[in-house]
Amino acid sequence: MTTPKKILATRIFPEAGIQLLKDEGFSVTVWDKNRLMTQQELVENAENHNALFCTLTDKIDKEFLEQCNHLEIISQFGVGFDNIDIDEATRLEIPVGNTPDVLSEATADIAFGLMIATSRKMFYLHKSIERGEWKYFTPNAHLGIELKNKTLGIFGLGRIGLEMGRRCKGAYNMNIIYHNRTRNLLAEEELGARFVSFDELLAQSDVLSAHCALTDETKGIFNKEAFELMKPTSIFINTARGAVHNEADLIDALQSQRIWGTGLDVTNPEPMHPDNPLLSMENVSVLPHIGSGNEETRAKMSLLAAQNIIGFYKHNRVPHLVNPRAI
Ligand code: GLV
Repeated sequence: MTTPKKILATRIFPEAGIQLLKDEGFSVTVWDKNRLMTQQELVENAENHNALFCTLTDKIDKEFLEQCNHLEIISQFGVGFDNIDIDEATRLEIPVGNTPDVLSEATADIAFGLMIATSRKMFYLHKSIERGEWKYFTPNAHLGIELKNKTLGIFGLGRIGLEMGRRCKGAYNMNIIYHNRTRNLLAEEELGARFVSFDELLAQSDVLSAHCALTDETKGIFNKEAFELMKPTSIFINTARGAVHNEADLIDALQSQRIWGTGLDVTNPEPMHPDNPLLSMENVSVLPHIGSGNEETRAKMSLLAAQNIIGFYKHNRVPHLVNPRAI
């Protein structure tokens, strides 16, 4: 490379990937302000860069791509890429990379943790201590529900769903059912997971955990009709994307005891408003989208996002390419 390629990092990302890019001779600009860029700032900053190192808070929509069609590659820090108009990027022949695999276990840990926390009302009871409500041991109040031998339903059994299944099978000998676009033979063999229709998944799951991508097909799929088919004793877990569930319908299903509880790492919208009624319910646990958030995982994601850029410029190959038709 003679003139260094200029990369715009839209946030402060873990240093590993940024350093790797610099070591490989790239010039990296980091948006280091303690706030998100406005859309106008994103366009203005992208204008004099060759590539984007971005994440799910950046709106890479049709309008942005039309204005910034000079971009040579977009590298997403994250496995999900629903913030990017992939069809438009492909039409403009801009490759998009992402960071799968490395975050599967960390994200499954959060789904598993939310399941346990919800089943035992942990978040609510923690807050009750802060309110001074812990007076004495109480034999019959705020009781949770057991997970052992229950049925886990996985919606979207890919890499993260498989890790969730492994945890639930190992810890609680849960019976695993799933619904997917395609059968997952590895999970069927390893976990004895059984493929079922979407309606069967709703009707039979004691814990229903969403691990799908956000697409036109999955947007709002967990709505009033879906919650009505679930067991009144069931727990709904979402660590995928908030828009997969309809939040008003979810609140309604909990208030009317159509389902028993919910554990969310993603909300609709994000961030969740502090006055959201979900935050004061007993059987609810909410986290601020931290699925992949441990040191090791985030460093690996940063490296992968950098390697996608390096691979593109130096080896003519994006290791984790979302839109092969762009090249
Ligand atoms: C996080 O939500 C991701 O898609 O990696």
